[in-house]
Amino acid sequence: MAVATVCWTAGAVVLLDQTKLPDEETELVCRDVAALVDAIKRLAVRGAPALGVAGAYGVALGASRHDDPLTGARDAAAELSVARPTAVNLAWGVRAALTAAEVAAEAGRDVAVAALAAARGIAEQDAAASDAMAAHGLPLVPAGARVLTHCNTGALVSAGGGTAFGLVAAAHRAGILRHLWVDETRPLLQGARLTAWEARRAGIPHSLLPDGAAGSLFARGEVELVVIGADRICADGSVVNKIGSYSLAVLAEAHGVPFIVVAPTSTIDLATASGDDVEIEHRAGEEVTSYAGRAVAPAGTIAYNPAFDVTPPRLVTAVVTETGVARPVDAARIAALVASS
Ligand code: MRU
Repeated sequence: MAVATVCWTAGAVVLLDQTKLPDEETELVCRDVAALVDAIKRLAVRGAPALGVAGAYGVALGASRHDDPLTGARDAAAELSVARPTAVNLAWGVRAALTAAEVAAEAGRDVAVAALAAARGIAEQDAAASDAMAAHGLPLVPAGARVLTHCNTGALVSAGGGTAFGLVAAAHRAGILRHLWVDETRPLLQGARLTAWEARRAGIPHSLLPDGAAGSLFARGEVELVVIGADRICADGSVVNKIGSYSLAVLAEAHGVPFIVVAPTSTIDLATASGDDVEIEHRAGEEVTSYAGRAVAPAGTIAYNPAFDVTPPRLVTAVVTETGVARPVDAARIAALVASS
């Protein structure tokens, strides 16, 4: 990509503005924390690992913009960690950078420099995790597989090759991927706008389908594997991911198709027992009642617009992380993945 998903340039957090894709590959320069919070809320930067990296850079930004860097880091952390509630990586990345800032302040070192170093470390760790997840997941992809994926999980959500899409791309390079089915992912079309864009650039044979067409693909026997990412994996192995993921898991079970989740251990939240305890982000009704800026439902229509749903562990065949694979998915195996990180 001409513009990196998230980076730090000349004292600002610079994002590839994902709201402009696939038409334009443009930078969004966030020179203060408010601009970054707005970018996160509008999904100019999105996807769990990228949110972790952006949040950490945001703490460095807050520290570098304030007369008292530690106060700047703390204020930034408070605003950023709640900008979106469901993806645990955001709060995780923010906390890691803030901890580095606090340790530096205690030791009399430069707070902003320490927060920036922590953010850079998170980005490097994320890039390395992408490669390791793909390597661990590859043996789970059957030769000649037609793979169905949901939302967007490639380089646009990561400092590396991504989560689920990183595995799909590795399967393509290994010559074992027959076809990629891309769910359009209503209402914000991360599949149509972003995954189809990434698949085209990677030369991966793919077709785009309306979310509601997935059932007919399973019924016709045209899916051998479902691969998705996650915004949070709870201690019991519940997977919180883009709305529509649960429907795919139910379909996969009904048709005897494996359902694999690819996510770094930074997405595992052992402090949250199950998906019932996760705050699910609900977004503006206009995202559903309008299309391309034009109202498509009668004025006053009330929308139901949760951004994420919960897939229980019994429907998940395997969780693939950079430290290994949990299969079957249960609390002990999820904890072991984290312990070896
Ligand atoms: O609302 P988004 O676009 O941030 O949602 C992103 C997803 O649901 C991804 O599938 C998820 O973050 C996993 S990819 C790392």
